[in-house]
Amino acid sequence: MSSSIIISQRESKQAIYAELLPQLKALVEGENDLIANLANITAALKEVFNWWWVGFYIVKNKELVLGPFQGTIACTRIAFGKGVCGTAWKLQLPLLVPDVHAFKGHIACSSATVAEIVLPIFDDREKVVAVLDVDSDKVNELTQIDVEGLKQISLLISEIWKS
Ligand code: SME
Repeated sequence: MSSSIIISQRESKQAIYAELLPQLKALVEGENDLIANLANITAALKEVFNWWWVGFYIVKNKELVLGPFQGTIACTRIAFGKGVCGTAWKLQLPLLVPDVHAFKGHIACSSATVAEIVLPIFDDREKVVAVLDVDSDKVNELTQIDVEGLKQISLLISEIWKS
């Protein structure tokens, strides 16, 4: 297995995601430990995009609990419907928040965060089992193209969640 993700085409975000996805599939193939796979996926996303923060919150006992992540220390528990993460869980929809200061109830784990994307992760019964959270410290860094690319990655994560 390669020790890093190789991205040769950086002319567009779509090209980056197109190169990244098969490498993530190869990364998790043959590994059945969920936390190990989530840890490697966050490391790969951080390596490729260098976002301020990227990681998972996992549904445990009716709340979100911090899972594998890359970035500064973060709040460990988020209630259903609270913050961007708890709202994405409640709505069962991806959320692109271009300005976190305009999002009522945003939970600021870091004052550096200016924008955020959160996607729900579903199990094979279409139940939300986690959210993938991306925080950016750069205005306009996160776009709908990232939402679409991360949606493909979230489908891969759903697959490994079932295994
Ligand atoms: N900003 C998130 C909380 C998680 S920290 O960003 C890692 C929210 O509002 O749910």
